[in-house]
Amino acid sequence: MVSRGDRESQNAHRSMILWFTGLSGAGKSTLAHAVELELHRRGCRTFVFDGDNVRHGLCGDLGFSPEDRVENIRRVGEMAKLFIEAGVIALTAIISPYRADRDRVRQLVGPGDFVEIYCQCPLAVCEQRDVKGLYEKARSGVIKEFTGVTAPYEVPDAPELVVDTGAQPLEACVDQVMKYCEARGYLLPLT
Ligand code: ADX
Repeated sequence: MVSRGDRESQNAHRSMILWFTGLSGAGKSTLAHAVELELHRRGCRTFVFDGDNVRHGLCGDLGFSPEDRVENIRRVGEMAKLFIEAGVIALTAIISPYRADRDRVRQLVGPGDFVEIYCQCPLAVCEQRDVKGLYEKARSGVIKEFTGVTAPYEVPDAPELVVDTGAQPLEACVDQVMKYCEARGYLLPLT
C-alpha cells in the first residue's frame, strides 16, 4: 500500500489544506489561485476548490440555506482530506460562513494539516466591488440569504493567518501566505 508519506516524499513537499474563508468578493478565489501559481512554480502539487468547480458539480444539488452550506463545506472538507492523503496541497476558496463547519474540517485532519486563512475585507468594500452584481440583488431582495447582507458570516476566532485582502495588493497577500508556509516548514524539501 502506498502511504501519504510515500506520496509526500515523491512530491518533495508535505500536503495540507489552505482553507481561505471570507465574504463573497473578499478575494478568496483570486488569492488561492495566485498562491497556487506560486506553489506550482516551486514544484508543489496543488489543487484549488472554489465555487466555480465545486458548486457546479460535486455540490451542484446544493443551494445557500444554512443546511446546504453545512453540507457544501462538509463535502469540500472531505474532498480536501482525500487530497491530503494524495500528497497534494489543497487550497479551498469557499465562504464557509460558520465557525463550527470550519472547525469540523480542522478536526477531520491531523494537527498542522489545516491552515485557516481569513481573507479580511470589509463588507462595504466587497459591496462596492460587487464583481458579480450579487450584492445589489441581495439588497433589492432578488437573492435571499446572502452572506453579509441577510445571512451571517462568523469571523474566525483563531485563524492561522489573517490576510488583509481589503487593503493590501494581491502580491503582498500572496507573499504573506508563502512566508507563513515557509516559516512553518511546509515547503521544506522532504528527505
Ligand atoms: S458557502 O457559504 O457554501 O461556503 P460558496 O463559497 O460555496 O458558499 O459560494 C459562494 C458564492 O456563491 C458567492 O461568491 C456568490 O458568487 C454565490 N452566491 C449565490 N447566492 C449566494 C448567497 N445567498 N450567499 C452567498 N453567496 C451566494
